[in-house]
Amino acid sequence: MAPNADPPVRIGLIGAGRIGTHHATALARHVPNADLLAVADAFEEPARRLARELGVRDAGIEELLDEESVEAVVITASSTAHAELIARSATAGKAVFCEKPMAMSLTEADAAIAACQEAGVPLQVGFNRRFATDFAAAHAIISGGGIGSPQLLRSLTRDPGLANPSAVPPSTIFTQTLIHDFDALLWLNSGAAAVEVHAFADALVAPEFKDAGLLDTALVTIRFTNGALATAEASFSASYGYDVRAEVFGSAGMVTMGSPAPHTMQHWSADGVTRRTVRSDTDLMHESYAAEFAAFCDTVRHGAPVTVGGADAKAALEIALAAIASVEQGRPVRVDAIRAGVA
Ligand SMILES: NC(=O)c1ccc[n+]([C@@H]2O[C@H](COP(=O)([O-])OP(=O)(O)OC[C@H]3O[C@@H](n4cnc5c(N)ncnc54)[C@H](O)[C@@H]3O)[C@@H](O)[C@H]2O)c1
Repeated sequence: MAPNADPPVRIGLIGAGRIGTHHATALARHVPNADLLAVADAFEEPARRLARELGVRDAGIEELLDEESVEAVVITASSTAHAELIARSATAGKAVFCEKPMAMSLTEADAAIAACQEAGVPLQVGFNRRFATDFAAAHAIISGGGIGSPQLLRSLTRDPGLANPSAVPPSTIFTQTLIHDFDALLWLNSGAAAVEVHAFADALVAPEFKDAGLLDTALVTIRFTNGALATAEASFSASYGYDVRAEVFGSAGMVTMGSPAPHTMQHWSADGVTRRTVRSDTDLMHESYAAEFAAFCDTVRHGAPVTVGGADAKAALEIALAAIASVEQGRPVRVDAIRAGVA
């Protein structure tokens, strides 16, 4: 550390599963302004394994929240636990970073946001696409007027993995996967709000699980307050790898972003031209995860404005809930009806 450099933010992480393992490793090794102190989980074994791997403490959740040296909590537990863990962390006086979705209902989201406001602690939510260099560059061009007024937007997530279809709750494609696309669309569309949502979804990848409620393929159309129209689509069976892309077409041009390849290298040979693809979000999006944590630590240490806060996360959740209602009811659903709890 350079002399007089500010000390890194001391972090405790709750949730030692798949993404928790990635994020804890990133915080411990790849985010210079973070210092991972401890890891907790609802179960002892995952926390102990991860803590041992990284040479940090494993702790109970309460113990981690009581620990004075922990300044900030990163929540990577299962989605259903997020809202409560946000409120508990805020009440303990910790700055909060929570993976998406921040809550499973708008009531829960409101309570979590209120808890952070009352405690006076920052809340950042894990919409990491905003920190991918190509998405950030596209956003800067849109904000600078480089494509005129956004008119048509599209965003997609294609995930190669459907390891255990019977374990996927029906709303997963909307609340866990497409919620990234909903946030990206809201952000790229110059802050316009969503007005109306019409969603279609089916079990095209694993039709044998359709009766159990699995939805593995979805298309969502969204109309915004600025008149722009968007589509978001997701699939759980991209044979070629993990694929995240977006496009914004406007009155004076277009920006495109994202790729299923982690870098631009192409292999030209007698077999043709190939690009390497990867099979997981953590391989494709690693740099954006590290960048979102660097921004969070800058907020905690220097008071930099929160980049993606509770209100942003709630707006994306509203679209997800409208999409779920639209599929259930087989018709377009207005987002204000979701807000009012009458859809
Ligand atoms: N931003 C992204 O790109 C991204 C990618 C993957 C996952 N996620 C999100 O991260 C979260 C975790 O996903 P995952 O794939 O790691 O799941 P996972 O099932 O692998 O891990 C979840 C962990 O949380 C623990 N847990 C469950 N309830 C808990 C509680 N009440 N308190 C403490 N720990 C608890 C479990 O024991 C488990 O170790 C989900 O909300 C998911 O949506 C985000």
